[in-house]
Amino acid sequence: MSTHHSTTGPRLTRAVVHDPATGETGIRTLTLAAPRADQVLVRVMASGVCHSDLHIVEGDWPTDTPLVLGHEGAGVVEAIGPDVHDVSVGDHVILSWFAPCRRCEACAAGRAWLCGNTKAVSNTLPDGSTPFSDEHGEDVLPFLGVGAFSEYVVVPEAAAVPVDRNVPFDVGALIGCAVTTGVGAAVHTADVRPGDSAVVIGCGGVGQAVVLGLRTVGAHPIVAVDLSEERLELARSLGATHTLRGDDPDLTARVHEITGGAHHAFEAIGRPATIETLPGLLRAGGQAVLVGMTAIGAKVSIDPFDLADQGKSILGCNYGSSVPAVDFPRLAALHRAGRLPLDRLIGNRGTLTDVERAFGDLRAGVGLRTVLKP
Ligand SMILES: NC(=O)c1ccc[n+]([C@@H]2O[C@H](COP(=O)([O-])OP(=O)(O)OC[C@H]3O[C@@H](n4cnc5c(N)ncnc54)[C@H](O)[C@@H]3O)[C@@H](O)[C@H]2O)c1
Ligand SMILES: [Zn+2]
Ligand SMILES: [Zn+2]
Repeated sequence: MSTHHSTTGPRLTRAVVHDPATGETGIRTLTLAAPRADQVLVRVMASGVCHSDLHIVEGDWPTDTPLVLGHEGAGVVEAIGPDVHDVSVGDHVILSWFAPCRRCEACAAGRAWLCGNTKAVSNTLPDGSTPFSDEHGEDVLPFLGVGAFSEYVVVPEAAAVPVDRNVPFDVGALIGCAVTTGVGAAVHTADVRPGDSAVVIGCGGVGQAVVLGLRTVGAHPIVAVDLSEERLELARSLGATHTLRGDDPDLTARVHEITGGAHHAFEAIGRPATIETLPGLLRAGGQAVLVGMTAIGAKVSIDPFDLADQGKSILGCNYGSSVPAVDFPRLAALHRAGRLPLDRLIGNRGTLTDVERAFGDLRAGVGLRTVLKP
């Protein structure tokens, strides 16, 4: 066990970079600065490919600057800056893509997912800088302050949460985004009670994790909706009691037959046309939870009379309304205890060179979550 800060210089790291100027995504060798102040250097052991990475590649979330993609990762701390207190060299950590400031009102109130000071959404470290630079000395920013499709990353200690060393890195990576978001959407955002009925539309990595969260809290029935038979089959094995196809023209009527109008409806795609169907799936007093992220600027059309008259609500969900420092270790412990089979969410495995194949699978909606070993 070492808590001393370790001296280290800049190093080279291979990383998947998306350049908005050319629209190209490819592997480049970058320089990574040594960890300063409260920063830690992490050797990334596994990183999951999330649809949010694809949103960048598709231009849904415009950026002017080249980004190191990846935000769902786990690894080992190799060095720490002089002001790091809670993380030690050798710790196994799961990376958070929403490093909280730990000081604002939301953070003080224990609601880190609402932190107003985080710079993660600007794709920088908390001080506005980036640890990555290219061969010309130009900045390359870490997507969501992480950039997990890289052999090494430098993040603030607030974004590196230590977990038990027995947690497999690939499972840890998924806890870093899909699992915390999906399970948290059911457990925290929606506060689902035992016996509540629920429908989950979109059963990718995030939607499957919503199903797991619903099963864990005893929701019933649980209706999973997707276009892929493979994903519906997985959802059934993870706890969905019914599955329906997203292109079924009678989808709303079928959900009502099964649930009598759902208490909860989760959208885990980020598709405006699907979001617009949510209030119609609910019973009076029911709530819809927006987990999927649309392209920036997208608009939806909702009938406000129905919401007011029927007392329905629509809730936004960032990071599953979770606090990584609290929820990552809990989710990892549930997995270790056999209560949350997170390894079942993992599909293909590969290295950084397989990222294009993983994006192709996400576009086509085939396979399960790809995990890369940088
Ligand atoms: N709220 C958050 O904090 C947060 C965190 C992580 C990801 N996200 C967002 O969640 C969304 C899902 O991410 P993911 O990685 O699970 O993506 P994914 O691509 O793996 O999953 C999307 C699923 O939706 C299904 N789908 C597509 N069209 C459909 C339709 N018409 N009807 C039914 N199903 C349909 C696909 O087959 C696929 O299984 C993305 O928008 C991502 O950006 C949000
Ligand atoms: Zn993600
Ligand atoms: Zn804050």
